[in-house]
Amino acid sequence: MVTIQSPQETLMRINRLKKEGKSIGFVPTMGALHEGHLSLMRKAKEENDVLVVSIFVNPIQFNNKNDLEKYPRNLEEDKKKLESVQCDILFAPTVEGMYPEPVTEKYDFGELEQVMEGAFRPGHFNGVAVVVKRLFDITLPDRAYFGEKDFQQLAIIRRLVEMEHLPLEIVPCPIVREENGLAMSSRNERLTPEQREKAAFIYQTLQLAKKRKDDLCPSPLKQMVVNIFDANPDFKLEYFEIADEKTLQPVTAWGKQENVRAFIAVWMGDVRLIDNIRLN
Ligand code: PAF
Repeated sequence: MVTIQSPQETLMRINRLKKEGKSIGFVPTMGALHEGHLSLMRKAKEENDVLVVSIFVNPIQFNNKNDLEKYPRNLEEDKKKLESVQCDILFAPTVEGMYPEPVTEKYDFGELEQVMEGAFRPGHFNGVAVVVKRLFDITLPDRAYFGEKDFQQLAIIRRLVEMEHLPLEIVPCPIVREENGLAMSSRNERLTPEQREKAAFIYQTLQLAKKRKDDLCPSPLKQMVVNIFDANPDFKLEYFEIADEKTLQPVTAWGKQENVRAFIAVWMGDVRLIDNIRLN
């Protein structure tokens, strides 16, 4: 594996590989790699000639300074994990390298960004879109891999690809969970071992919501989850939403949509966790 910091050098090297007819599988990350990331990388390695991974903690997608400062960073550990999945190129730029000038791009994702993460994290998806577009321009992927834990991000990236007519395929990958059901996330590293055990409660509640779907309408089902979290002092619920998988707009009655998903964001101390589950 080669590690490259410079965007220009990365672009030149990948350009050469593409001219040789090699396909590029790309997995963008912010590091603190876990089994969820590695599952995307294994798939990308299988489906492409060259595996390119980026590690860049993107400051412009953090709407919370504390979250940015405390975001786990461990490049040396990450490199070992990348070797284990036979990553070919690690692109690890600096903030100055990615943003030599002030950022001016402003994307409009319409209703997709007005709900859930978009509503609670102002500016977040614009920051994601700006960095992902730049990363695509540098790594020239044939396929790029994104986890379904960040389901709304996946929808935003698909829209970005459509809007910008980008010649690449977005490959969604299922959520990878810890043994107790907690969705894998770099932020889990910030939980104490005790919190990490207790955080299984989030997925257990999502599973309960799925079970009760046949006897409750969306609104009472949502209220049930709110009540469950109100009664648990370990968590502070930010939102629980039931939404159409395609439009991400709230669902008020069953039956009209093809696929419906429940989405949750919850605070455990000062760590914010998200998860989702398909209900049908
Ligand atoms: O999902 C992430 O880790 C980030 O949002 C991404 C896609 C790497 C952009 O910074």
